[in-house]
This record gives sequence, C-alpha cells and structure tokens, in this order.
Amino acid sequence: MTFQPAEWPRKLRSQEWYGGTSRDNIYHRGWLKNQGYPHDLFDGRPVIGILNTWSDLTPCNGHLRELAEKVKAGIWEAGGFPLEVPVFSASENTFRPTAMMYRNLAAMAVEETMRAQPIDGAVLLVGCDKTTPSLMMGAASTDIPSIVVTGGPMLNGWFRGERVGSGTALWQMSEDIKAGKMSQEDFLEAEQAMSRSSGTCNTMGTASTMASMAEALGMALSGNAAIPAVDARRRVMAQLTGRRIVQMVKDDLKPSDVMTKEAFENAIRVNGAIGGSTNAVVHILAMAGRCGVDLTLDDWDRLGRDVPTIVNLMPSGKYLMEEFFYAGGLPVVLKRLGEAGMLHRDALTVSGGGIWDEVKDAQNWNEDVILPVDKALAASGGIAVLRGNLAPNGAVLKPSAATPALMQHRGRAVVFEDIDDYKARINDDALDIDETCIMVMKNCGPKGYPGMSEVGNMGLPPKVLKKGITDMVRISDARMSGTAYGTVVLHTAPEAAVGGPLAVVRTGDMIELDVPNRRLHLDISDAELADRLAAWTPATDGPESGYTKLFHDHVEGADTGADFDFLKGCRGNEVPRDSH
Ligand code: FES
Repeated sequence: MTFQPAEWPRKLRSQEWYGGTSRDNIYHRGWLKNQGYPHDLFDGRPVIGILNTWSDLTPCNGHLRELAEKVKAGIWEAGGFPLEVPVFSASENTFRPTAMMYRNLAAMAVEETMRAQPIDGAVLLVGCDKTTPSLMMGAASTDIPSIVVTGGPMLNGWFRGERVGSGTALWQMSEDIKAGKMSQEDFLEAEQAMSRSSGTCNTMGTASTMASMAEALGMALSGNAAIPAVDARRRVMAQLTGRRIVQMVKDDLKPSDVMTKEAFENAIRVNGAIGGSTNAVVHILAMAGRCGVDLTLDDWDRLGRDVPTIVNLMPSGKYLMEEFFYAGGLPVVLKRLGEAGMLHRDALTVSGGGIWDEVKDAQNWNEDVILPVDKALAASGGIAVLRGNLAPNGAVLKPSAATPALMQHRGRAVVFEDIDDYKARINDDALDIDETCIMVMKNCGPKGYPGMSEVGNMGLPPKVLKKGITDMVRISDARMSGTAYGTVVLHTAPEAAVGGPLAVVRTGDMIELDVPNRRLHLDISDAELADRLAAWTPATDGPESGYTKLFHDHVEGADTGADFDFLKGCRGNEVPRDSH
C-alpha cells in the first residue's frame, strides 16, 4: 500500500501562531526569536516538536538529549524547523507506587502539549517502559503527524562469564539468595555488571517490547527497535527519523493513517513471536482506544494462539537485545510472520509504504537467536487470555515464560490480601504452603495498588526454593515486569478492589488453572460465590483529593487498557485562538 500525500503547499497549523503580521503573530514569533532564530524560519516550513522524555531520573532515557541533536540535524536537512520540548517522563525505576500510575497523566500532558502549541509534526523520543505508550497515546489523541524513535537497549551485561539480563537477573539472583545459592556480596558485585551502557533494559522486557510494538505498528522506521543505544547506527536512525517527519508533515501522514486495526493485529502477532511483555496488552489496548480502533482482550488470544515464539531472548530464552540486533532484529520476525500468512502486508507505516516492502528482504544472521519454527520456545507463544468464574473479564498469562508442567494445575489457594500481607508472611517458614499450592494476591490492580504495580511475579517462599523448586502458579490482579518469568496469571479482572471474584478467594479454596482450555476456575459453588460477593465491601472510598483521586475515579480495568474513561478517543488538534 502506498500513501496518497496531501496537496502541498498548504497552510500548516504552526502558521496560526507564526505566519502573519498581527499583534499575536508578532508576540509568538518575536519571543521565540530571543533564541536567535532568523526571520525566514517562520516562512511556513513544518515546525517539528521533538518530544523528549530525557530526565536524569529516567536513566534508561539519559542519553536522549544527545540523540535529540541528531533528530534536529535530520529535521534541518529536510527543511523543517526543530524545537525540542521536554515532556513528562514516567521512569520505571524511580516512580512510586509505580510508573504505571503516571502513564495516563503523561499521555494527557503530551496530548495537551502537542495541541496547545505550534507543532505540525512530532518526533516521540522515548525508551523506558511507560514513555513509549504514553507519548503514542497522546499523539494518537491529537492525530498530529508523529514518528517514534526509541533510545535503544543497553549493551549486554556480563557477570562471571554469564549474560546478565536487566531485571531477569535481578529476579533470579534474589531468589538464589533466598535459596542460599548466592551471597549478598556477589549480588552487589553483580549490580556493577547489570547496566554497562546507556539505554533501556537489554532483555525482551517491556521497553524492548514496546519499541518492537512501535515498529510493528508502523510508527517507527524499520529496524528501529533493536539497535543498541550506543551503536552509531542508533544515531543514524535518529537523524533519518528527523528527515522523515518533515516529509510526513508535508504528506499529512497521521497516526490515524498508520495505527489501524490491521496494524494493531500485526503488533499482537509480533508480541507472540518475540515473547513480548504482558504489559503490552494494557498499553496496546489503551493505544487502540485512543485511535478509536475496536480491539479487545479476545483479539490477543485469537491472534496469538498460532504464533510461535521464535526470538530466543530473556526472560523466555537465553540472549539479549544486542544479539537480536546482530541477528537482523525485528524486520526478520516481521518477514517470518509475513511468510506464514500472519502479517497484514499492506499495513501502512511512517515510511509511506506497506510494512511488507520494508521487511521482505530481511535476513536472519543467527538462527540460534531468531529460531526456526521447529525450535520455537513455545509453539503457541501469544498471550493466553483466561476466563472463568475467577476472571469473568479475563486474565492473562505468558506461555513462553511459564513452566509447561504447570499449565494445567489444580491447587490449594494461599491468599495474601495485598502486597504488605505478602511481604509480611512469605518468608515465614511456618506459612502453610508447598509447591503444589497456588499463591493468590489481591488488591494490586489499577485501583487497588493503586496503579497496578509489577508485583504479580511474587517471589516463592524460601522453604520451597530450598527444595530446588523454581516456579509455582501465582494469580493476582497485578502486572508483571516484562523481564520476569514464571507461571503467573496477571491482570485478573474485575480487580479485587472493585469487588471482582478475586476479592473473595480464601486460603484453602481449590483453584483450577487450565491454560490450553483458557480456563481459570475457583472451585466453589455458584451459590457460595454469590454469597461471598454479596457480603463483600470495599476497603476504602478511595483518595479524597489530588491526582490519586483523579486516577482512582477514572481509571478503567486492565481488560480494556487501564486508560482514563474520559481520555479515550481522538480529540484532534483544533485549538481556540488565543486572546492576546
Ligand atoms: Fe527503564 Fe527497563 S527500567 S527500560
């Protein structure tokens, strides 16, 4: 498919601010000239906002100011006028209670930043987990031409001859300490080896997954997702992206042209093939909601069932993003999906052409990193969507990161009322639990935590770990880090805090998990379940003021993307004239 460009030249929205001789025009233009811009820059050329999520407190994006200079170079070369704009940066590793609580706030701020200012096109400079979806959601709600460039992953971590995957190694090592297999001193030494360079997590965690989603959706240039942050080709990608956005503005190529239902279906299939993060489920659903695309949790199950996980990266496999790049990166995966009839080949990308045209010549340079189908990590690698009386609105599980023997399991529930209850009791050897039990945690969903923290991969009890057991079935309404693994049922909806069935599970109840049949069942009678639900009352009325109140009152369930109810859809980019 080839995009039909709009007629050019036409008056751009930035000219409402800069393009005349009125008092208002002089006010807007004159003030900007204090930065030393010559008058001819205001002649109607595209003004490109480089929306930068750089922050010293978002270390994964700590190099984005340097990258912004390359984006600017590309914009200048193509005849645009670049202006760098700082935007809300929701850092995964600093924000409490969880960065997820601020994804919608960031998206709202980005949307208003774009609409309220003289921006004709935007380069979304992102990286860390929430920065990518939040900026894409904001851009989708304005429908101003936009393109993503990510900061790229860190180089491989190495510790005593072994790869150290961001996050994944942290989970592994902390379990090894509890099992008595690793000393605290070695853990501290390993810390130095985890983050060797600028960039995002080097596993197929949420950041790498969302970079892959942006590319699969067609919102980034082909090959963007995997280039390491410090590789010179990352800077080339930034410069090319700068050049491209200027042409996109001229062609009026908008997010709504690119992020179609077909594009979202491509992204879901890619997530299965790369063994991507379960967090992509909430982000992709939220993005689709901004685009007005009818996408549901069931689309994830329907589209992912036949997709084998062929990317051998942690946490599902063994390698890291650096090796994925050297093997050929996402274009190889897209080509494989296309050959298997699992790709909408005509889906438009920011290039102005169909996605197949960009990937059809991709080559796989390492078949141990991007595997043949007969060696796939999981034959059915897509996110499994479970339903049943314990999750009427759905729950998710990542098969490629789970233990095959636990995919059908019936066990006795050991219930933790919330994260504090879990922390208080999990290390107590008197806790009545063994490896056949199912760990259940409540009140960690969007309203419950609040913010839906990544605590769903509850660490196992030490007395179980000491037996050499590394996995147990765990169920909650929380999320899980994209770097984590295990037979972990997440996003159970409705969440406990709003009175979903999860709220009334009791220690000692039997639970059946049946992933092949997509079933999650609390083994009590319908009458007993109804009685328990009727007796349930919320623990709190919620916050009384501030952003937490806005969040609590308006956040939707994980099954629809946990966006705010009033932010769904595209509101366009018209803005009232100012009053100076
Ligand atoms: Fe920022 Fe992983 S914590 S990318």
